[in-house]
Amino acid sequence: MRQKIYAQLKNTDGFISGETLSTALGITRAALWKHINAMKTDGALIESVTSRGYRLISPPTVPRAEYLAAHTRHDMPVYYKPSVTSTNDVAKTAAQSEPGEAVFIAGQQTAGKGRKGRTWVSPKNAGLYMSFLVRPSIEPARVSGLTLMAAVALSDAIQAATGIHTQIKWPNDILIGGKKAVGILTESLLNMDGIDYIVCGMGINVAQKSFDDELKEKATSLTMHGKTNTTELAAAIIDAFLDALDIFTRDGLSPFMSAFRARSAISGRVSVISPGHRDTGDFAGFDDDGALLIESGGQTKRFIAGEVSLRGENGYV
Ligand code: BTN
Repeated sequence: MRQKIYAQLKNTDGFISGETLSTALGITRAALWKHINAMKTDGALIESVTSRGYRLISPPTVPRAEYLAAHTRHDMPVYYKPSVTSTNDVAKTAAQSEPGEAVFIAGQQTAGKGRKGRTWVSPKNAGLYMSFLVRPSIEPARVSGLTLMAAVALSDAIQAATGIHTQIKWPNDILIGGKKAVGILTESLLNMDGIDYIVCGMGINVAQKSFDDELKEKATSLTMHGKTNTTELAAAIIDAFLDALDIFTRDGLSPFMSAFRARSAISGRVSVISPGHRDTGDFAGFDDDGALLIESGGQTKRFIAGEVSLRGENGYV
């Protein structure tokens, strides 16, 4: 019911009367009022004027599936929970019991995971924590490319929903003004036939107004750079990610590489840190498979995984 009420409000320019809404949906005015109040509790701005009815001013800030349905073009199932351990873990558990695809979103994570076994600090309603469970028919060797595709899709979605321009730090961090605003953690399970599933998790710093001493040199949030509505942002991410995944499944990573190169934050002298190894050299671009190229001692080295250390003027990440 909430989904239908919200869709009506969202699709009406101006006011819609309580009577029209309750008659159309077959509920009492009191029941309607309760749903409207719940949406307000979820952060929606809804104007109510006696004799005119209700008018949606801005979407809820809690990205529940009922609201997202009115904002996305895709109909992949969305599951929202106020608090989970990790949306990646929830998605992986679901993958083992169900054959389908879905998006898992949480308002808070109590055990958010970053890359390399790190923790992803995930305070309540400050960030957007979401994981896509997908099963594209691609070769296992192409999974690492999906993360780069996701970075381009996320950067597009942030631009569309907030107007904020972002940069991508290979392979999959998104920066604003040299500081990290988004991290991506992709996990996958292979079986004898190829990919069983891929879970692509993204943590987006949305509403943080500051970070503690340990993070403040390295982290930033969307709110620090512009106005962001979490529901609109989550919907833009779903649309951008699933559109991109269709292209990626059909044509591979190369359609994304010009955007990836144009938004890349890497330049000059860089260090690539891989397990037990550190290579330093001059940045020499990316190939069409998304590998990072660096030149050192007259040789070009190619990296398909690793972490880049950047110490530029604009920040330290
Ligand atoms: C990183 O930069 O280290 C990756 C961070 C990924 C965080 C997201 S939040 C949603 C999903 N669930 C997790 O536990 N991690 C990812």
